Amino acid sequence: MVLAKPENKNVLSAFSLRGKVAAVTGGARGIGLEVSRGLAEAGADVALIYSSTRDAESLAAEIASANNVKCVAYRSNVTDAGTIEGTIKQIAKDFGKLDIIVANAGVTSHYPAEDYTPEQFSEIMKVNLDGAFYTAQAASRIFKEQGYGNVIFTASVSAILVNVPQKQAAYNASKAGLVQLAKCLSVEWVDFCRVNCISPGFISTDMISAFPAEWKEKWLGMVPAQRFCDPYELKGAYVFCASDASSYMTGAQIVIDGGYTLP
Ligand code: NAI
Repeated sequence: MVLAKPENKNVLSAFSLRGKVAAVTGGARGIGLEVSRGLAEAGADVALIYSSTRDAESLAAEIASANNVKCVAYRSNVTDAGTIEGTIKQIAKDFGKLDIIVANAGVTSHYPAEDYTPEQFSEIMKVNLDGAFYTAQAASRIFKEQGYGNVIFTASVSAILVNVPQKQAAYNASKAGLVQLAKCLSVEWVDFCRVNCISPGFISTDMISAFPAEWKEKWLGMVPAQRFCDPYELKGAYVFCASDASSYMTGAQIVIDGGYTLP
């Protein structure tokens, strides 16, 4: 039973992931790379699932040697259910099991809502919502058979508020859908895995670095912390969700945004 009480009651050792196997989509860049590092630092063996990052294999080797764990890069595509399921099955085979899946891959685009083409709208949904579902579903089939597992989605504060000045209705809708999807799955799958979401605010990655300086200035004025977050600052929350330290938590959304969603 997944929500069974862990035997170990010591809080620091409850955070340990030693002996666990984790896979992270978008795991070789930005937030996903820091999540992969965090899980490895906590002791997990990690599979980085990437789509285009050129140095994914050397990053995996670096994580493995820095943390004395197994870390391997796998190329895949979350928008194709068969492809991502094949990758996740291969990871479970290569590592002997799968304890944790982090569905983190995501994309964004900015168009006025009245101008989206069907292709532009569905490109966002296909990665952020369909792809996250296919990833979790593939892992859930392994978790069901094993009788244990843990799903963590990277959602966004865009699930909660409407970002300005950029126009990104598809992205916001995809992330809001993801939060509700996580709640549904947490109830349906309660007998064999926990399911939680992390919703970051503005995190300094490639996803936001390309945006115009005026947007970033406006955003900074709206964040009580008056700075953006470095991706490594999210590691603790992912380790918490992945570990026995959060043994009774399922269906939750953890918002990490320097206060952005509050005023
Ligand atoms: P990023 O652009 O550095 O990373 C996105 C990752 O998704 C990349 O590794 C990319 O290869 C992967 N990806 C994209 N399409 C894919 C596909 N079809 N199959 C497999 N992988 C694919 O951006 P970042 O910031 O690290 O984003 C990670 C997650 O965090 C995304 O879900 C994003 O929506 C979310 N997020 C980011 C925030 C930010 O301010 N950077 C804020 C809130 C949420």
